[in-house]
Amino acid sequence: MSAKIILGLTSSVAVYKSAHLLRALLSSGCRVKVVFTPAATKLISPQLFSALGADGVYVDLFPEALVNDGYHIPLAKWGEALVVAPCTANTLCKLAWGIADNLLTTLFLAMSDKPRWIAPAMHSQMWGSPQVQSAVQRLSSWGVQFIGPTTGALASGDSGLGRMVDPEEIAQVILKQGG
Ligand SMILES: Cc1cc2nc3c(=O)[nH]c(=O)nc-3n(C[C@H](O)[C@H](O)[C@H](O)COP(=O)(O)O)c2cc1C
Repeated sequence: MSAKIILGLTSSVAVYKSAHLLRALLSSGCRVKVVFTPAATKLISPQLFSALGADGVYVDLFPEALVNDGYHIPLAKWGEALVVAPCTANTLCKLAWGIADNLLTTLFLAMSDKPRWIAPAMHSQMWGSPQVQSAVQRLSSWGVQFIGPTTGALASGDSGLGRMVDPEEIAQVILKQGG
């Protein structure tokens, strides 16, 4: 497998697991570029993903040098598939309504002709909200594929549906479908 994958990260506490997802994809031979929402960088450093072997890490919608490969159209052309893991309630709803206000949400639109997966992570009350459920329905109807969420312990100390699927399992789904 030598697929070129874009890994999108949002600001869920589950984002620490995405380091394992990156490692799993890299060890299967994929090349991976990592795109953060600005809020995700509050929870985890892009440098970690760079150190783990990502092909590149990106946060800014308006990078200083627009001639390089770091803005949404060159990134969309490079990527063969996009996985947003973890995906917050906020980003999920933005994606469903075409809001393109950061690099990741803009890239999601620009990759509408490619396989796209979403692995949600949020509290069960957020997952069950009509806003989020409506967003899931819209995205699913356009062929966006959902991996989870699953039921289990949540960061808040509660238990319920909303936990991100384990990173190895997410990697398996992507790799099985050809990345
Ligand atoms: C410590 C912490 C953990 C959070 N975890 C989640 C989460 O798991 N899921 C979620 O939907 N929002 C979570 N949030 C709220 C989001 O960070 C917030 O809605 C943010 O605006 C989302 O931005 P983004 O979607 O652009 O990354 C968390 C916030 C904090 C402070």
